[in-house]
Amino acid sequence: MTRTIAVSGSASGIGRAVAGLLRDQGDEVIGVDLKDAEVTADLATPEGRAHAVEAVLGLCGGTLDGAVLCAGLSGPTPLTVRVNFFGVVAMLDGLRPALAAAVRPRAAVAGSISGTQQADPDVIAACLDGDETAALAAAERTVARHAGHRLYPSSKSALAQWLRRSAVTPGWAGAGIPLNAVAPGVVLTPMTTPLFEDPAMRRVMDEAVPMPLNGHAEPEVVAEVLRWLVSPANSHVTGQVLYVDGGAEATLRGPGVF
Ligand code: NAI
Repeated sequence: MTRTIAVSGSASGIGRAVAGLLRDQGDEVIGVDLKDAEVTADLATPEGRAHAVEAVLGLCGGTLDGAVLCAGLSGPTPLTVRVNFFGVVAMLDGLRPALAAAVRPRAAVAGSISGTQQADPDVIAACLDGDETAALAAAERTVARHAGHRLYPSSKSALAQWLRRSAVTPGWAGAGIPLNAVAPGVVLTPMTTPLFEDPAMRRVMDEAVPMPLNGHAEPEVVAEVLRWLVSPANSHVTGQVLYVDGGAEATLRGPGVF
């Protein structure tokens, strides 16, 4: 039976790769992105998120087999928090009833190894409170103090914590919907291309994210894991952050964290 799966960030990088893998196996993909997608929407704004949810629900007819939320960005600005946290959570909340109506629904998001790195506790707390105004105010304060470098880690840490908290609730686990994240290391996509052009930045990146197993990954590597997480085969993995990072997380956090 054809499954219908919504994929955000479908126009580029990891989202594009997962959309391709799903289409290749016969699934119908409803891509959501700023452009070049079935649904064009700006997930940075409440209006854009509402439009995206409504459009996906219209296209899937109210029953959705899977959602893969990859849209995101890594710049040191509050926009990163708006898209990476609030954009993802709004999509999951909005699509959850349609997922619950499916026979074997699945959801997965793109986290990051950066979610384990130095973050801003005020931004994270406001995100987990669902208070976007407070999160953006905290983000502005972080920009003033630390030039915004903690915003991407904050957005991904908050997302991972929200996911672990939500995945085991009646609305998700109780409705039979596994909800997981992948946490990639460095992936070769348009997001990272500019970093590779600067040798100093590349050194910083390699120190921050050491990848002893096979080095930097192609987007298809991460997409394969996302494909499995939203496949019918995944009946019991939920609330997990799967590090698809060539060993970076194990290197950085050591054997005591699991
Ligand atoms: P990418 O830049 O190739 O693709 C991101 C997609 O998200 C683009 O198509 C973009 O248009 C879309 N997007 C951005 N802002 C949006 C908005 N406001 N509304 C709707 N769509 C929007 O990036 P990549 O590398 O594929 O990243 C995908 C996800 O993986 C992101 O969440 C990123 O944080 C995460 N990730 C990426 C890593 C990497 O090394 N590339 C490492 C760890 C996590």
